[in-house]
Amino acid sequence: MIRDPQSILWLNFAVGVVSGAGWYWYQQRNSSEPLKKSVLSLASKESESFRNGSASASTSSLYSNTENETSFQAALQSAVIDAASIKVDMGVENSCLPKENDVLLASSSKSHADNGQASVLSQVNDAFQLSTAKLHNLVRAFIAEYEKGLLAENHTLKMLPSFAKRPCGSETGTYIALDLGGTNLRVCEVQLEGNGQIRSSGQKFTVPESLKKGKGDDLFDFIADCVSQFINVRNLSKESKLHAGFSFSFSCRQTSLQDGYLLLWHKGYECDDVLNKNVVELVNEAFERKSVGVRVVALVNDAVATLLSSAYVNPECCIGVILGTGTNAAYVEDLDRIPKLKTHEHNASQTTPEIPYSPLRNVGVPPSPINPPTRTMVINTEWGAFDNRRVILPVTSYDYQLDRTSSSPGIQIFEKMVGGMFLGELCRLIFLDLVKAGELFNGIVPASLEVSCNFLTAYMSRIGRDHTDELMDTKLVLEGLLDIQKTTTLDRQIVKRVCALVGIRAARLAACAIAALVIKINKLSGCTVAVDGTLYEFYPHFRSHIRDALSELLGISADKISLVSSKDGSATGSAVAAAIAASLIPA
Ligand code: BGC
Repeated sequence: MIRDPQSILWLNFAVGVVSGAGWYWYQQRNSSEPLKKSVLSLASKESESFRNGSASASTSSLYSNTENETSFQAALQSAVIDAASIKVDMGVENSCLPKENDVLLASSSKSHADNGQASVLSQVNDAFQLSTAKLHNLVRAFIAEYEKGLLAENHTLKMLPSFAKRPCGSETGTYIALDLGGTNLRVCEVQLEGNGQIRSSGQKFTVPESLKKGKGDDLFDFIADCVSQFINVRNLSKESKLHAGFSFSFSCRQTSLQDGYLLLWHKGYECDDVLNKNVVELVNEAFERKSVGVRVVALVNDAVATLLSSAYVNPECCIGVILGTGTNAAYVEDLDRIPKLKTHEHNASQTTPEIPYSPLRNVGVPPSPINPPTRTMVINTEWGAFDNRRVILPVTSYDYQLDRTSSSPGIQIFEKMVGGMFLGELCRLIFLDLVKAGELFNGIVPASLEVSCNFLTAYMSRIGRDHTDELMDTKLVLEGLLDIQKTTTLDRQIVKRVCALVGIRAARLAACAIAALVIKINKLSGCTVAVDGTLYEFYPHFRSHIRDALSELLGISADKISLVSSKDGSATGSAVAAAIAASLIPA
C-alpha cells in the first residue's frame, strides 16, 4: 500500500499521464479521423472563402465550440492530470489583447457590418486568439506526445536521446564551440573555469544561401574555413588538436555524444547528400581536408546546448528552450523513463561497431554534491514537429498556406506557428487577404507584399515597439522599407494588430509546450528554464506573453518556474558538451 503523499501524487500523475496518452491515442485512432477530415474540409473551404473575401462564419465555427471540438475537449477533459493541479476553466476566454483593439475591429468592419458579414480582420482576430481552455488542451496533448515519443522510435515527437548528462559545473578547459543555426555559424573560444564560471568570446559568420542548398562538402569546407580563420586570428593553433563541441540546430539521431546522423534539414537548408550521414565525421573530414587543427568531440542539438550551458552555472536548470528562427526544447529525463533507449543501444552497437563506447557509457559526468549520481540523460524533444497531423493545433488557412509553400511541407507544423523564420510570412499572408477584402491599403496590393518572405519578423518586432500615436515607426517600415505608398493611421493600426495576433499566438503556444514539460518532469515545485534565441531576446513582450500564459495554465505554480535568458547558450553549451565528452575519452 502506498501511503507516502509524494508517491501518491506521483501515482496520480502517472495515471493521469497514462490515461491522457491513452485518450489522445484513442482520439487519434478513432475520433480524430472524422475530426481531422472535418477540420481539413473546413480548413480548405475556409481557405477558399478567405481567399475571395466571402468567409463569414467558417473561421469562427472552426475554432470555437464546434461539436467536434467540444467532444474532443470532453474526451481530453477526462484525462485531467489532477496531480499537477492544472486549472481547467473551459468557459474563460482570454482575449490577451488590449481593449482599444475593439475600436479598431469596429472601424475596419464597418462595411462588412452593413451587409451582416464579419470583416476578415475580425475573423483573423478570432482565429488567432487562444482561450485558456484551448491552452489546457494543448498542454495535455503535449504531455501525451512527449510520453509516446519516449516509448519507441518514429513517433511524431522524436524525443531524441542526446547521450549528454547534466554537467556538474566543475568541468574545466578551453574548447572551441561551433554553433550552426538557420542563418549564422558562430565560432567561439570558451573557457570553462569550474565553479560554474564560463568565459567566451566569438565571431559570427553568415552562411551564404548558395551553400545551404549545395553539396554537403562545400558547407563543411566553409565551416572549416571559418574555424581556421578564427583560430589563426586569435593565435590559438596548438601542436595537439583543439577539442571542439558542435551545436547543430537540426534534428539528428545520436548514437553517442560523438555521433549524430542527420534526420532532416529545414530552415532553408537542403544539402541532401548529408541526410543520414554522421555530421561529426563530415565536419572532422573537412578539418582534415583544410588542415585545421581542431577535432569535434561532441555533437549537441542547440536546445541541448542551451540546457547544458545554463545547467553548468545553475543546478536548478532542467529545461533548455530555443525560441529563434526555429523552436525546440531539451530537458533532463531519468534513464528509466526512456524505454526506447534499450532498443537504441542495441541498434547503435549493430550499426556503428567502430564506436569505442557503448552509448550508455557515454552518458555522464562524475557525481558531485550538486550532481547526485542519478541516472539521467538530456532528451532533445524536437517539439517543432508537434501535431504534424494537425489534430489539435489551432491551424488557420494562413498556416496551411505557409506550410504548402514552404521548403518542407507537411512537417514542423508547430515550429511554423512559433518560429521566427515564419511569423513575418504569416503576417504577410494575412495582409494580402485584408488588402483583397478592401480592409487594408485602400484595397491596392503593394508590390513588395507580393514577394514571399518580404515582411520580416524583425519588422514585427519594430512595429510591436512602436507606441507613438500615429505609429510613425510603423509608417517608416511600411513606406520606407516596403515602399508602400501613403499608409493611413488605420492601416498602420491594422498592421500592428495583425503582428500582435501572430506574435502573441506564438508566445502562448510556446508556453503550452513549456508548461507540459514542467508538468511531465514533475517540477511544478520549481525549476529554471533557460531560453536562447532571437525571438525571446528581441521580440517585444514575448517573454511576458509566455509568462501570462504560464500563469493561466499553472496558477501560482507558474511563479516557481523561472525563465532565464541564456544568451549564446547554444554555443557555449557545446563547449560544455565537449568537456563532458573529453572526460570520457581515454588518454
Ligand atoms: C530543429 C531543431 C532545432 C530548432 C531550433 C528546429 O528546426 O529541428 O533541431 O533545435 O530548430 O534551432
